[in-house]
Amino acid sequence: MGTGFEGQSCHSGLVTAPAPATPTVSAARTARLVGDVAASRPAYRALADALRLAVADGRIPVGTRLPSERDLTGPLGVSRTTVTRAYDVLRESGYLTSRRGSGSVATLPSAPLRRGTGGLYPADVAEGVIDLTCAATRAPAGVVEAYERAVERLPSYLSGAGYLTHGVPDLREAIAQRYRDRGLPTSADDVLVTSGAVAGLGVVARALMRPGDRVVVEDPTYPNTVDALRAAGARLRPLVVDPDGWDLDEAERTVEAAAGRAAVLIPDFHNPTGALMPDEQRARLARALTAAGTTPVVDETIAEIDLDGGPPVLPFAAHAAAAVTIGSASKSHWGGLRTGWVRAPRGALRPLVEARVSGDLGAPVLEQLVLAELMQRSPGLTPERRDDLVAARAALVAALADTLPEVRCLVPRGGLSLWCELPADLSSTALAAAAEDEGLLVAAGPRFAVDGGLDRWLRLPHVLPPASMVEAVHRLARAAGRVRSGRTVARRGTRARPRRPLVA
Ligand SMILES: Cc1ncc(COP(=O)(O)O)c(C=O)c1O
Repeated sequence: MGTGFEGQSCHSGLVTAPAPATPTVSAARTARLVGDVAASRPAYRALADALRLAVADGRIPVGTRLPSERDLTGPLGVSRTTVTRAYDVLRESGYLTSRRGSGSVATLPSAPLRRGTGGLYPADVAEGVIDLTCAATRAPAGVVEAYERAVERLPSYLSGAGYLTHGVPDLREAIAQRYRDRGLPTSADDVLVTSGAVAGLGVVARALMRPGDRVVVEDPTYPNTVDALRAAGARLRPLVVDPDGWDLDEAERTVEAAAGRAAVLIPDFHNPTGALMPDEQRARLARALTAAGTTPVVDETIAEIDLDGGPPVLPFAAHAAAAVTIGSASKSHWGGLRTGWVRAPRGALRPLVEARVSGDLGAPVLEQLVLAELMQRSPGLTPERRDDLVAARAALVAALADTLPEVRCLVPRGGLSLWCELPADLSSTALAAAAEDEGLLVAAGPRFAVDGGLDRWLRLPHVLPPASMVEAVHRLARAAGRVRSGRTVARRGTRARPRRPLVA
């Protein structure tokens, strides 16, 4: 069966695809990442330290080929001996592997830290424990009333079988209208309602990808995206997102080198960095993806969480007609609705519908009616929820500045969390484990890395009332004290036994 995404360039998987190119980092970007090492004495040590941090942080993803020693001398203004010695140090410490013919590739000394430890299990949280593993809020006011109105509308659906494989028509229309309001012409026929965005990604993966396909994915990114793509057999090609957004020169190179089947992007208040891709970058990236024959798969789950406002940004699909967009009510309305959607390119919904039926035969009717009710009142984020998130964010920022000033983070215009850089003496994994002992669950940076690293980064969602955010930071500060003093033995009973890892 074809993918049905006719008209787009299709790669035919393992048989005819060109040999996969090892991802590379350019000499120019490497120089930007390491800074002015030429001024340090000894320069080779400064270069080795800076590269080690960049690999450990995930700014140079594991598996990426570094520039040749000769190529790096010019942009860094150092001698070839300096680069050679720095690379030797990295090789000895396990951060670089050199093989004849494939150059020097970034590695990590021990097994990848993707999963990290601590704070990954929001289920069964013991009383008094603050759970910041989920970047999601409680239900907004009005949900019960929306359910009551939906129940009143339910009888008109009861004479049918209830298998609405495409979705409830009124909801599909409300979703299409929301796209039109955001500047993207869309009809209800382009929309497939799913049981949330992750389920939507599963549908898209089944429709579009075959085992062995190369798929570009941002690094860091939402962990369940990585898991879903790996489950689909994709070979992932990381596209680095810096704390302040995308380096478009680098992104273009990654996209061209990967020549992937698809690229999964979160351009709107990216999880976990919160970065918002500006329109001109969207246009550039869309052009690069089109040239590479790569289908953009755009996860807009957080797109409505524009807290501060600012110049409106067009949906990515307005720049890329072939884009498949995934949306969700989980952040704008409530995660408990388990309702999301996929917006297909014009006329390309059918393969998505065919792919969905191997997973489920439709989303629950009642929840779709509830979301239609909620969207009628407030198609995007409600003003009350916006105010709550802004207050929680302000409390988090102030508490960090007071209590943990050595933790640095940019405050993005929107989104649900801050992506915090820890000082060099704090590992995010160790901090998350110690925080658990203090009754705080957080997801450590490596959980958001495609292939390990990011252990100096911590995601802190601002989704609880301000007092809880302040208390969370106090617990984090106590945990940092434990890590620094080596007192990190876990207390028993902080939370019940975890059932399965989950980060939202
Ligand atoms: C980028 C992104 N996609 C998807 C999800 C999950 O969405 P859903 O609850 O609709 O499955 C999240 C939740 O945090 C997210 O941040």
